[in-house]
Amino acid sequence: MKQSLLLAAILAAATIPSATAHNIVPKPNFVADRIGSLTLVPNAPIVISAPQSDSTALAEYAATWMPFTPAANPKGGIALRIEPAVERISSPEGYLLNVTPDSAVITATSGAGLFRGLVTLQQLADSKNTIRAVTIADQPRFGYRGMMLDISRHFRDKDFIKKQIDAMAKLKLNNLHLHLTDAAGWRIEIDRYPQLTEYAAWRPQPTWKQWNEGGNRYAHQSDSAAFGGYLTKADIRELVDYAAKRYINIVPEIEMPSHSEEVTATFPELSCTHNPAGQPDFCVGNEQTFEFLQNVLDEVIELFPSETIHIGGDEASKRAWKECELCKKRMADNNLKDVDELQSYLVERIEKYLNSKGRRLLGWDEIMEGGIAPNAAVMSWRGTESGIAAAKAGHQAIMSPGGYCYLDSYQDAPASQPEAIGGYLPISRVYSYNPVPDSIDSTAAQNMIGVQGNLWCEYIPTAEHAEYMLYPRMFAIAEIGWTDQDKRQFDDFLPRAIALGKQMSADGYTVFNLETEIGNKPEAKRPENHLALGKTVTYNIPWWRNYPANGTATLTDGVRGGWNYSDQLWQGYLYKGDERMDVTVDLEKVTPIKYIGCEFMQLIGPGVWHPSQVEIQISRDGKSFKTIATVNHEQKATDGVSFKTYSWSGSEKARYIRYIARAKEGVLFTDELIVR
Ligand code: ACM
Ligand code: ZN
Repeated sequence: MKQSLLLAAILAAATIPSATAHNIVPKPNFVADRIGSLTLVPNAPIVISAPQSDSTALAEYAATWMPFTPAANPKGGIALRIEPAVERISSPEGYLLNVTPDSAVITATSGAGLFRGLVTLQQLADSKNTIRAVTIADQPRFGYRGMMLDISRHFRDKDFIKKQIDAMAKLKLNNLHLHLTDAAGWRIEIDRYPQLTEYAAWRPQPTWKQWNEGGNRYAHQSDSAAFGGYLTKADIRELVDYAAKRYINIVPEIEMPSHSEEVTATFPELSCTHNPAGQPDFCVGNEQTFEFLQNVLDEVIELFPSETIHIGGDEASKRAWKECELCKKRMADNNLKDVDELQSYLVERIEKYLNSKGRRLLGWDEIMEGGIAPNAAVMSWRGTESGIAAAKAGHQAIMSPGGYCYLDSYQDAPASQPEAIGGYLPISRVYSYNPVPDSIDSTAAQNMIGVQGNLWCEYIPTAEHAEYMLYPRMFAIAEIGWTDQDKRQFDDFLPRAIALGKQMSADGYTVFNLETEIGNKPEAKRPENHLALGKTVTYNIPWWRNYPANGTATLTDGVRGGWNYSDQLWQGYLYKGDERMDVTVDLEKVTPIKYIGCEFMQLIGPGVWHPSQVEIQISRDGKSFKTIATVNHEQKATDGVSFKTYSWSGSEKARYIRYIARAKEGVLFTDELIVR
């Protein structure tokens, strides 16, 4: 590309090394500081050259910063101009911002670009609205930069959502995905089916946890002790408009064919069994299911201008389909060989319907299982493989893998945090995610259109708690989505994230304070040296293949696990019967020993339990073993993540150590067999 005049001018301009003083998240892609500054005073001139709807949106947003006066000349103020082409900018959301002592001028090819530039300009201003002279040429790495809010598990109202849209605008995020329907509550008014918001949106208990423990029952809105709520059509229109004025699209998600107990409780004829309790899946054999879904989608389409409509598609049980006469007939009539293909039948039919209305179908990665619908886009959550496979097969993919993008995981040491669903996802790990690794070829890379942070809310009952889980980790998602990979470094991001967190706290958001972060489990921060280090372990029972960690080396590699059993440092044991783990370590020679122990994790939600009994045996010859310790423990469900060490201390000599862990319930996880 020939060096443009502008670029030459930028390079020639007296540049001052760019300090982190540009406290902007996401980090702009090109910044050149220049000499001087501009101070904006109230009623400074604003010149907007853009179509009317953009002008209105931009003027309104600028007015939330300070009063401006519409003018013909931007001297002492700002100019926002749409131009047919802007040097160095290829994205409609890109912008060129030039701040000189005379004025601030933003050019872009669309209103969205002007808006993103205006946000940057505001963030450059100090408390006196002085802005250092600068040239910024900036555009997003990805076209889709999303945030998902689950308002089913705990209903969140219009005002909460608007507040988060404001935060998204500052972070240059452009898609708000609303998870509107799930077992715990239907959250969108549908005129055709008022029962959905009179019944399916309400429950006898305030929190998801209590509701789950109380047998997943529903209530009527009129019941004096009913908890829940929903967005009315007026609420949704207001939200769509509010978001659009910030150049944010709202992607509605209506779950199918599963996560729909609230619907089948309301309309039992829509499940295979017609049982009003505990039926997650719609009956795919029943035409009424399609009639219902299409009627709902008609109203959803009417409310949401989003080209993309999310239809869920995750975690279908598919169990009842195997026994259901209607589902079996559907499979036979359509030559569907299994229930995965039956799910694909539904998704394909719904896709055709959406396409006929000019919309595109997006679904969780399970929609690929029985063959993906022709035009569908995939949201990759169970790791990254599905998203990559979809992109390679020519489908659009949005990456939100659980290991990086699930903001319902603990963000710091679990004991220091409100109860979460589990996991351990500190901001540093979120930030480390690169949605499109270099190994992916450019055609597939083009199909990987973005990244999204997801806030599932089973364990998040309040608005404050939701914000606390979102921020600051959403800052990391925003920067992954916007800033080029080679311009991102965690050390550079962290002080900006801390500064932005403080600013958002001052603006009334509840934000986790990164300055008090404890970090990973202390044991995981350094290698563990002990007598069994590097010694051979024989597995008398195999480990659970889903959680191999470091295979046969796991228990003696000196590497301890962190707060999260899925960090690939914890090994899982799920053998049927009481005996789950049974290993023998060979110390290679008879050795004096004083301590033998393993630490186990417990997290009841996903079924991770402490053992009910551990037996520790030793031997000199590997043939005759004697038991030196039996540690019993009554298995009890507890809240949150906990750790327990099962050990022996004493004085013995042995070459072989056998460690047996038993359990009545759950899968066991340990990380190291420590011998001293
Ligand atoms: C999901 O987390 N079930 C998409
Ligand atoms: Zn059925």
